[in-house]
Amino acid sequence: MVWKGSPHGEYRTDHELTFRRLDGPVTERFDCGEQDQNEFLSKHAWDQQQSGFSTTYVAYVGGMMVGYISLALSEIRLPGPERLVSAFSSRFPALNIAQMGVDQRFAGHRIGEELVAFALNRARTLMNDYGCRFLILDAAHGRAGYYARLGFVVNLHEQERREREAKKQKRPLEDVSVSMRLDIRPPAT
Ligand SMILES: CC(C)(COP(=O)(O)OP(=O)(O)OC[C@H]1O[C@@H](n2cnc3c(N)ncnc32)[C@H](O)[C@@H]1OP(=O)(O)O)[C@@H](O)C(=O)NCCC(=O)NCCS
Repeated sequence: MVWKGSPHGEYRTDHELTFRRLDGPVTERFDCGEQDQNEFLSKHAWDQQQSGFSTTYVAYVGGMMVGYISLALSEIRLPGPERLVSAFSSRFPALNIAQMGVDQRFAGHRIGEELVAFALNRARTLMNDYGCRFLILDAAHGRAGYYARLGFVVNLHEQERREREAKKQKRPLEDVSVSMRLDIRPPAT
């Protein structure tokens, strides 16, 4: 699969990563270095999946859990200049990367990139079967650069709204997560 947005040009599964849909609470050791993402996996992922709120896929190399990604159906609004010229509406169906993490022991081996590629494949299947146009996520302030490297752009209208709200509530802008999207439509051939 060629992933245009990737700085590495081509996406390859050279870790022999296998994905398994969660089938029970996670008991394996996992530490991605962020408490929120660790706790989501150990305490909430299974409950959220059972309630139909999100589905979690766990990635393995050999027998070891190296990362996970949680996906949920969603929607984004792209009004004004962000609206797509040919669109019928400013609202678009989207697949949301609700959470993801890579165990620190495996950091820097492009596993995060492969998790996003997995989500991109899922989003394209949705696009084909039901309609879906974007892969979206909320990035922590310091993490937006990581997703920008993979082709995600900031949802400007939504981001301005979040920052206005934060200013009103006197919250620091670094606490505001960054709303991002990746257009999943394959390039015209
Ligand atoms: C974010 C995360 C999933 C990345 O996983 P990973 O497999 O280690 O990352 P990859 O190997 O795919 O990518 C590493 C590359 O991204 C770059 N990168 C990392 N953070 C970056 C940032 N904030 N801005 C720009 N580039 C960044 C690294 O420099 C590295 O590039 P290089 O190899 O050219 O030096 C992982 O760090 C993680 O689980 N973090 C904690 C949980 C988290 O933040 N989840 C996302 C919530 S928004």
